[in-house]
Amino acid sequence: MKNPVMPASGTFGAGREYSEFIDLNCLGALVVKTVTLRPRDGNAPPRLYEVSSGMLNSIGLQNEGIDHFIEHDLPYLRQFDVPIIINIAGNTLEEYAQLCREIKGVEGISGIELNISCPNIKAGGIAFGASSRLAEQVTAAARYNTDLPLIVKLTPNVYNVSKIAQAVVYGGANAVSLINTLVGMSIDTNTFKPHLGNITGGLSGPAIKPVAVRMVWEVAQTVKVPIIGIGGINSTLDAIEFLLAGATAVAIGTANFVNPRVMIEIIDGIESFLRQRNMSDIRQIIGKVKV
Ligand SMILES: Cc1cc2nc3c(=O)[nH]c(=O)nc-3n(C[C@H](O)[C@H](O)[C@H](O)COP(=O)(O)O)c2cc1C
Repeated sequence: MKNPVMPASGTFGAGREYSEFIDLNCLGALVVKTVTLRPRDGNAPPRLYEVSSGMLNSIGLQNEGIDHFIEHDLPYLRQFDVPIIINIAGNTLEEYAQLCREIKGVEGISGIELNISCPNIKAGGIAFGASSRLAEQVTAAARYNTDLPLIVKLTPNVYNVSKIAQAVVYGGANAVSLINTLVGMSIDTNTFKPHLGNITGGLSGPAIKPVAVRMVWEVAQTVKVPIIGIGGINSTLDAIEFLLAGATAVAIGTANFVNPRVMIEIIDGIESFLRQRNMSDIRQIIGKVKV
């Protein structure tokens, strides 16, 4: 990676729409929206609702499926000199395993990010990422079926995120990314109805940043693998907080909707932050929070 900044899955599509605003070659990596085995329509609308300091979404992993991704998105992405990370999700262990097999040998994919926030339909609908056992199993299923670097994206909707991080590292994860969205809900006081068609949705944006920084810090105390910090990053100093907490890279989500150039500004901002302090290596700040 040229730098430690990448988009958070699902907020950047496959990059096309943003290429009008930024040179995608400048990113540290390009993480695409979650791809599933078969096409998915996603949840009933409305699927987005702005709340104080954040946003609720219930997109429901709408996507065209892995075959479409390989045929239509990957050829577009391959033209850029940037590592492409495919984010995948399934509703069973077998679906994750099969997705990894479908990706095997396909040119232009540098890594896999496992979205484990989805329900395991064979385990009564509990999210893979909400149980250490399931999280380890799904990571191991992917690990067995790919030689690519494996990043496991952790959900914050758990009591002890470090335990889950440990489990996915046992399962064979090379890195972890965190956090995905926090489950939330908002109600229209005129109609008495929830604002989202799905009733609940994922909270993202500045509102979740302190939770995310705390979780990154906790996970950094527990596992040795690299951490990608995600959650409410809007500015250079937000990104620096995550690095100080122990992240080696950061991913930017909701902020892209407000300012499509925000990642470029943060890439330049991190460089200036280090230069102003006569630092030449980002490792001089990674995990350096004084507690
Ligand atoms: C509209 C929207 C769609 C998202 N879709 C996905 C997705 O497909 N896969 C995934 O792993 N995370 C998805 N996320 C979660 C983000 O990648 C990220 O983890 C979360 O939004 C927190 O970061 P942020 O506060 O910078 O947005 C989505 C988030 C938003 C706002």
